[in-house]
Amino acid sequence: MMSTSLVVVVVIVIVLMVVELGVAQTTNNITNSTDDTNTPLLVFCGSNDAMDLTTFSKNLNSTFSLLRSRFSNIGVFYATAQELGDSNDAVYGLAQCRNYESVTQCLAYFDVAVSAVRPCGSSIGANIYLDNCFLKYENYNQFYDDPEGTSDTPLAICSNKSTTQQITDFNRVVQQLLSDISVATPRTSNFYTASTRQVTSGNATIYAIGQCVENASQAICKNCMLTAYNNLHNCLPSNEARAIALGCFMRYSEFPFFQNNQTLNLVPFLGAGSSSKHGLILAVSSGAGVLFLILALSIWFWRRKRSSVKELEGGQSYNYNYSDSKKATNDFSDEHMIGKGGFGEVFKAIVDNEIVVAVKKLHVGSRAKEEFENEVKLISSVRHRNLLLQLGWCSDGPELLLVLEYMPQGSLDKFLWGEKKGTLNWKQRFDIILGIARGLAHLHEEYHVKIIHRDIKSSNILLDNDFQPKIANFGLARLYPEDQSHITTQFAGTMGYTAPEHATHGHLSEKVDVYSFGVVALEVISGRKSSDVNYSGAEMEYLLNQAWKLYETDTHVMLIDDALDPNEYQEEKVKTIVEIALMCTQSPASLRPTMSQVYLMLSNEPALRQRRMSRPTFVDANRRIHIGEN
Ligand SMILES: *[C@@H]1O[C@H](CO)[C@@H](O)[C@H](O)[C@H]1NC(C)=O
Ligand SMILES: *[C@@H]1O[C@H](CO)[C@@H](O)[C@H](O)[C@H]1NC(C)=O
Ligand SMILES: *[C@@H]1O[C@H](CO)[C@@H](O)[C@H](O)[C@H]1NC(C)=O
Repeated sequence: MMSTSLVVVVVIVIVLMVVELGVAQTTNNITNSTDDTNTPLLVFCGSNDAMDLTTFSKNLNSTFSLLRSRFSNIGVFYATAQELGDSNDAVYGLAQCRNYESVTQCLAYFDVAVSAVRPCGSSIGANIYLDNCFLKYENYNQFYDDPEGTSDTPLAICSNKSTTQQITDFNRVVQQLLSDISVATPRTSNFYTASTRQVTSGNATIYAIGQCVENASQAICKNCMLTAYNNLHNCLPSNEARAIALGCFMRYSEFPFFQNNQTLNLVPFLGAGSSSKHGLILAVSSGAGVLFLILALSIWFWRRKRSSVKELEGGQSYNYNYSDSKKATNDFSDEHMIGKGGFGEVFKAIVDNEIVVAVKKLHVGSRAKEEFENEVKLISSVRHRNLLLQLGWCSDGPELLLVLEYMPQGSLDKFLWGEKKGTLNWKQRFDIILGIARGLAHLHEEYHVKIIHRDIKSSNILLDNDFQPKIANFGLARLYPEDQSHITTQFAGTMGYTAPEHATHGHLSEKVDVYSFGVVALEVISGRKSSDVNYSGAEMEYLLNQAWKLYETDTHVMLIDDALDPNEYQEEKVKTIVEIALMCTQSPASLRPTMSQVYLMLSNEPALRQRRMSRPTFVDANRRIHIGEN
């Protein structure tokens, strides 16, 4: 059993160890009582100081107020924000509230966290944990995409009061509840569960929640939850305990800390995975647990010093040589240029035995090479027939280059409204829609890291010689800093395709891609660009709006591209696909199906037409929001 005082001791032991290892870091621990939920559970201040205290303090204040403004939106419990300034004292922040809180509560707890972290002074990094809030800032941002990976071991903080219930019964109920929470949380769409359970022999109700940071992968969440469960297990029979970590939070209590109507039915998320195994996987005795913890925290400190070195399973991706790539593209000449996009120009290259590949010159600013390599290794290991294959990369020259599969037919937009307009028949169009759905389902649900594309649009879909689609540029959005993107021009997405919650609040989930997919599907059917307005009578109409209006009067068959031969398609089938596309563009995002559901609906004959739908909300090319209402 680990009491609060033991935690303090552990932290001191770690500090000693770290100092012995020669890593100059210290920790301030201002933990006291855990009874008051507004008392910090733990505060870690880094010992590296800001170069210029005034600039740093300005950046820190600005990061805090950006984070705070995110939390003033309903339904936002997780936010990242940064202030880079023009100096070395950039501040990257991340904060999380618990999903049972109201906007007012979340803001109040965030303010508590901010004041509690002020004593860290000029430290360029800090972590603070409260029951109701978690706040972290650093002068780097790797933790946005990888909340310290699987080495992130949750620390258990146990109340020193034991339960007044009958102990074996209490322990059994808490264990079962936490085990269920650890299984269910990674399976929910927002990585959060809250549940209660009755102690059968007594009169107590146990309240418990599980929460992972929203940008963790499912694997990280699962791992973190399992360890949290095992560590809390060691707190029993404490009447209350929490496990804290960078990647997740778990808490149980004999006292209510959320409303009875805020619970989630866990049953649908429990499924086949047997929960009884958990104890075996990571059954650690207290002693071993402390050692494990020391190791994990040492790694954490070490990572704070150096930028993180991710170990990713690489596909067979090659590190190409810059001068060879330059030669193969004839010095990146205009004749070799085959495309130009937000991320850079693409060139056709002839390498060795006349194998043609595409070389993309990336404009990703001064991002560290190491970080770039980690990203491209990740992208390289994704292989699927509907995803553009990345053959390798090159980071030894003045620009960062990606070496990609060459697609002779070019991008889908050319076939819809560009130079090859009207040349795709209905079967080809349907196969393209289906293929994009399959590729996205793989990125979201089948690959071991969930990858959100963020910029699905017709010009990012390439066609091979059989007119099968391949999604390009996936993973690249990760190379852009996710800063004030949704407010400023830097936002990683394209108006006309972007889900409203992403464009306006920066909310990011795989449903952002589902929305863009719906828009692309309508473009493929109509041969019209989403952002172009159509003059129907006196009214100017965007594609999405027009599709909805036609659907309302059951005339959506009129959306079909005139270039298509009516003998090639069945009207009913096209109408169904329009309906599926509209379903994908609904708001809020929770109304949209997942990509694997979309794929199933497209490939089977679905009985979905009964589903009630609402008018889509969209953001037009001038960034005006058109709110859907019905
Ligand atoms: C940042 O905020 C703190 C607390 O409100 C304040 O004391 C400090 O002067 C601010 N720093 C700057 C540079 O504005
Ligand atoms: C529950 O039972 C305990 C004794 O078993 C008692 O002290 C306590 O007051 C009871 N609580 C409630 C809410 O009835
Ligand atoms: C939940 O219960 C609280 C009071 O117990 C009430 O104020 C609130 O409206 C309820 N919420 C829902 C969604 O029913």
